[in-house]
Amino acid sequence: MKALILSGGAGTRLRPITHTSAKQLVPVGNRPILEFGLEAISEAGISDVGIIVGETHEEIRAHVGDGSQFGTTVTYIRQSEPLGLAHAVLTAADYLGDDDFVMYLGDNLITGGITEFVEHFRQERCAARILLARVRSPERFGVAELDDSGRVSRLIEKPKEPVSDLALVGVYLFTNRILDAARAIEPSDRGELEITDAIQWLIDAGDEVRSQIVTGWWKDTGRLNDLLEANRIVLDALEPRISGTLDENSEVQGRVVVEEGAALVNSHVRGPAIIGRDTRLVNTFVGPYTSVYHSCNVSDTEIEHSIILEESTIRDISRIEDSLIGKQVVVQRNSRKPRAYRLMLGDHSKIGLA
Ligand code: TTP
Repeated sequence: MKALILSGGAGTRLRPITHTSAKQLVPVGNRPILEFGLEAISEAGISDVGIIVGETHEEIRAHVGDGSQFGTTVTYIRQSEPLGLAHAVLTAADYLGDDDFVMYLGDNLITGGITEFVEHFRQERCAARILLARVRSPERFGVAELDDSGRVSRLIEKPKEPVSDLALVGVYLFTNRILDAARAIEPSDRGELEITDAIQWLIDAGDEVRSQIVTGWWKDTGRLNDLLEANRIVLDALEPRISGTLDENSEVQGRVVVEEGAALVNSHVRGPAIIGRDTRLVNTFVGPYTSVYHSCNVSDTEIEHSIILEESTIRDISRIEDSLIGKQVVVQRNSRKPRAYRLMLGDHSKIGLA
């Protein structure tokens, strides 16, 4: 059995971060989302992993390498354009051959792994097995309708009328029948080859599609709020550890990790929170559910419920909440006259001023 991780895509909902970086490498709890997927696949006993990559292929390759650090062997498969999840499957046809495979969306986070899901498929092999989660707003998802025996009878993309609250989670198990389906379907109104259409094609062709409801927690991290929620879930499970240094005026409370080389000077971190390697906090308060990645400088600032990526500098700002701050960003107060906001923002940036 193989795994196919989808790490291409346009990531329009996470602009401007995705103008320059792969969304699958945004860290939650200071760990790139993609790593959780690779780990879950490896734990399920699958070592042969294909990764679909798009424009951000160099960054993904540089991070994952040959996959050996996750106990996997990785093959990179370049998708010309993000033309849909079923298009990604077709792009991987040569790699997949006749093998069964688990398809994993690289920006999805599932606690509790996928081992049980994979085991069920191995025991009761069918054309496709999908993972479902109960959601509050089914109109935002692809949802599944089940018949009395629990088989999937219909898939509906973003239903206007509530037909079911069972949303498709971004992990699927397939035999190579899915390739026939992906070849047979037409692009949707948004111009993509949809995996829901391919699975519906299997159902209509009389192939068996089974489902399973996810036991743990699942999140598609394609939007800022979902990313912050994923960060919360990961931080809630953090093992506290202080490997950096605290001066005598600094304090940590609760579930806090201070990584190697990080330094707290007259600063206070209230967990759950993680302060990355070589990051320096000076006269700063870091509140719950905050991840500060490596090599940042934060001074005279209060920040809570946020993610800061590497090598960013924040000076004299009170206070930041619910934010995602990119790499090498500088946010600072200045005393130049006239007093004004002086901004250099990338395309699609969003700022909310108090
Ligand atoms: P999506 O989040 O559905 O699509 P997207 O990345 O284009 O994002 P947005 O809607 O914000 O523009 O994709 C789910 C995962 O699959 C994600 O990791 C990207 C990946 N993907 C591909 O690899 N190829 C594709 O053609 C598409 C559409 C997605």
